[in-house]
Amino acid sequence: MDVVRTSVTDFDAAVADVLAETIAARPDAVLLLATGSTPIGGFRELVRRVGAGDVDARRIRVVQLDEYVGIPDDDRRSLYGWLEREVLAPLEVDEDRLLRFRVESADDAEAACATLDDGIGRLGGLDLALLGLGPNGHVGFNEPPCGPDAPTRVVALDPASVTSNARYWGGEEHVPRLSVTVGLGPILAARHVALVVQGDHKRGILRQTLEGPETPQVPASYLRRATRYTVVADEDALDGA
Ligand code: GLP
Repeated sequence: MDVVRTSVTDFDAAVADVLAETIAARPDAVLLLATGSTPIGGFRELVRRVGAGDVDARRIRVVQLDEYVGIPDDDRRSLYGWLEREVLAPLEVDEDRLLRFRVESADDAEAACATLDDGIGRLGGLDLALLGLGPNGHVGFNEPPCGPDAPTRVVALDPASVTSNARYWGGEEHVPRLSVTVGLGPILAARHVALVVQGDHKRGILRQTLEGPETPQVPASYLRRATRYTVVADEDALDGA
């Protein structure tokens, strides 16, 4: 495990470094990308570097990590909406270089998970899984309890996730209760797993993730099993961790 400790201001550049290095090593890299607030600054820095001609992202392939079930495709609060705004549109990633969940209806959810896993296989696996850390130790929507072999699947949101995502939905009562997520199993099969964490509100769960026992109660604790594992964390998240 490599821990990249940054100042608060250098965090976004360090996240962009992980993405840029992956793309430099393989221009058609397959990138599994989290949304949420943590990686957004890193995505924007990557877009800036692409605009400046420092990174060539014309051939990257993008795989969606997770999604709420039952949200219309044009609802920009969907996780696809985040991905579209921050990555796909600015980097001009067309449909044929994108693997995403289509789960507008709960009836489609199981099939969408199978489609995503098949797609990852057809792409030859993931070069990078860039993950945020949930307040309860989830990655994607791999809610606790979750073992290291968990497949891509439909998951009911944990109450902690409903609370932490309420700010994006205008209150807890509006947060969708069902999600789909790439499983911890396919995530751990990635050639490189990068966990990005910022802020002192993540300090306790980051400490458990890095130093606590591997346990289904903290799904991110299993990331230590990855072939290559990088943690990018700012000093606020790491102090005392
Ligand atoms: C959300 C998402 C994750 C995300 C995590 C952290 O619920 N399901 O994919 O990485 O929680 O989000 P944030 O970066 O906004 O703290």
